[in-house]
Amino acid sequence: MALAYADRVLKVDHAGEHGAVNIYRGQRLVCSWRDEALKRELEEFRAHEERHRAIFAAELERRGVRRCRSYRLCGLGGFVLGVLTGICGRASIAAVTVAVERVVLRHLEVQLRELEGVDAAAHAAISSILDDERSHHDRAAQEPRQGIFWPRVLKPAVSAATEFVIWTGMKL
Ligand SMILES: [Fe+2]
Ligand SMILES: [Fe+2]
Repeated sequence: MALAYADRVLKVDHAGEHGAVNIYRGQRLVCSWRDEALKRELEEFRAHEERHRAIFAAELERRGVRRCRSYRLCGLGGFVLGVLTGICGRASIAAVTVAVERVVLRHLEVQLRELEGVDAAAHAAISSILDDERSHHDRAAQEPRQGIFWPRVLKPAVSAATEFVIWTGMKL
């Protein structure tokens, strides 16, 4: 039987959070020589993403819905993106966070609208992560060293990849 919209959304969001955990894990891994404030921020963001992933995992389990088939690929893709951008430094780290979170926030808002009055538990799960995602976006957007290259090259590529992950996840 085809999964309900809420179940598909929870699956995709769960896989997406796994991707996000791995972006920050990859970035943190390769920027050990960089400043302490950046490292602390990456660790803090990663802890948030782990909490989000656990929220969606618990909700999927409660419903007896299996995780998304894209789950492992999301983790791997996130990790590779994290390592590559972590090597390139602050500007690219901030550009990735802004690009990913912008797409994520837009999708979460659509999901919340669709689920309002339809599925209270799914709505509550998504609502509970919204403030964290907004703060990730806003804090990364404040990074003064965005440069010219990163926003131009990385943002469209990362936005497109994030859209693709969400689109395919909803089909799987
Ligand atoms: Fe998240
Ligand atoms: Fe986030």
